Amino acid sequence: MSTDYTLVGPGFAAEITGANIADTWSTQTVQEIRKIWLDHKVVIFRDQNLEDDDLKRFAEYFGEIFVHIRSQYHSADHPGITLVSNAKKNGKAIGALGNYGIGWHCDQCYRETPAFSTILYGVDIPSEGGNTSIGDLAQAYAAMPAALKARIDGKRIVYSISKITEKRDYETTAAQRAASPDVTQPLVRQHPHLDRPSLYFSPDHAVRIEGVEDAEQEALQQELSDWAGQPAFVYEHCWRPGDLIMWDNTSTMHRRSGFAPTERRLLKRTGFMLPPDLAIPLPAVK
Ligand SMILES: [Fe+2]
Repeated sequence: MSTDYTLVGPGFAAEITGANIADTWSTQTVQEIRKIWLDHKVVIFRDQNLEDDDLKRFAEYFGEIFVHIRSQYHSADHPGITLVSNAKKNGKAIGALGNYGIGWHCDQCYRETPAFSTILYGVDIPSEGGNTSIGDLAQAYAAMPAALKARIDGKRIVYSISKITEKRDYETTAAQRAASPDVTQPLVRQHPHLDRPSLYFSPDHAVRIEGVEDAEQEALQQELSDWAGQPAFVYEHCWRPGDLIMWDNTSTMHRRSGFAPTERRLLKRTGFMLPPDLAIPLPAVK
């Protein structure tokens, strides 16, 4: 199978051509794709035609499949697959996240052991909007002014599932909150497999940076968000049906633009975990 690719973002995000995910892949193909993904943080495949079994097999090539804590939107037969959709059936949403815009965040940073990767597969795509932008937090950290780096190096940050829920239109149940207490994560983390650090900042989940005065919290978080969200570090994906994107949550953040409520959007989301010995984010090595 061909694994040719071109970079579609500024210095990251590889679009791979010639690979059919519905086929069963050889170990060699999996290793080639994994390397491209690690090197470029995001891989994109176009024109796929995937059943849930194909998505599950694909995620499991790379790690233990991730099961989202919000079980209300799990695919009926596959708890490792979650529906992301504004569509309704009998007046009830069939998936998560409606049609509104979603701010910058890193998936599952509010868990002690976040998902290593998120995988999104596009089924129904609106004619306009609903784009996914992905920010390269490793590049953003590498290019960060020394004065800003000095303010965050060695710091830890508190992330909460509750903060993002306040902004969205679905409930996190009491049991889900109890299972997901606030956690602290390193604000600069070492990649689990690569010799490089990355900013690990999720604006939509951030409660406070430890060791920073209350009066400075908002300004510092805004400064980090503004820095990392610059176009020089961002790839914006305009979806087509059949697109699949897999990103590295250790080194990227992402957001979504809103779209018209009259349009239907359905994506299937899965992902995979790190092995247990690497699962908790490692602070950057100085
Ligand atoms: Fe997300």
